[in-house]
Amino acid sequence: MDGKQEELDRKWSELEETCKNCRKCPLCETRTNVVFGSGNRSADLMFIGEAPGEKEDLSGIPFVGAAGKLLDKFLYAVDIDRERVFIANMLKCRPPKNRDPKEEEQDLCIDYLREQVRLIKPKIIVCLGRIAAKRLIKEDFMITKEHGIFFEKNGFTICAVFHPAALLRDPRRKEDMLVDMKKIKKKLDEV
Ligand code: URA
Repeated sequence: MDGKQEELDRKWSELEETCKNCRKCPLCETRTNVVFGSGNRSADLMFIGEAPGEKEDLSGIPFVGAAGKLLDKFLYAVDIDRERVFIANMLKCRPPKNRDPKEEEQDLCIDYLREQVRLIKPKIIVCLGRIAAKRLIKEDFMITKEHGIFFEKNGFTICAVFHPAALLRDPRRKEDMLVDMKKIKKKLDEV
């Protein structure tokens, strides 16, 4: 292993350790596990969701519940291997009863995500849902109008798609999701 890779691995382990011991906000009192993220640390494609749900809190792995299973189906449909991407969330701990992440929780948690992005250096970032899109793309992001559109921000290509949990609530959006995922796969093949 070369020195550069060793340095990256060390930084990653430190970050993971710090994050797993985080007590910056009250969510640390109610969490079972910190959901740091999972997948390929050299991924070209990174998905960023909102916050862990119950199954994720129990397992420590993002997107393993019903929404995650649906995400897996879309990845499969466009021939993207889940092992090839990295999946993380805006918040690393579950908000009680899956309520929306609070602004101040996001403020306290976002540096973990920023550091993950710095270390992974994905070519494409995909926000899963409006919460991540508003924070990472632009404050006035409109998921219904702007899903599937690529933006360039801070040297990254970034877009947002409907959150899989929103697709479970409104399956009519699944067609849009498939179109967006095909666009993402095409972009991934180009970069
Ligand atoms: N919803 C999210 O936004 N993230 C998860 O990890 C699970 C469900």
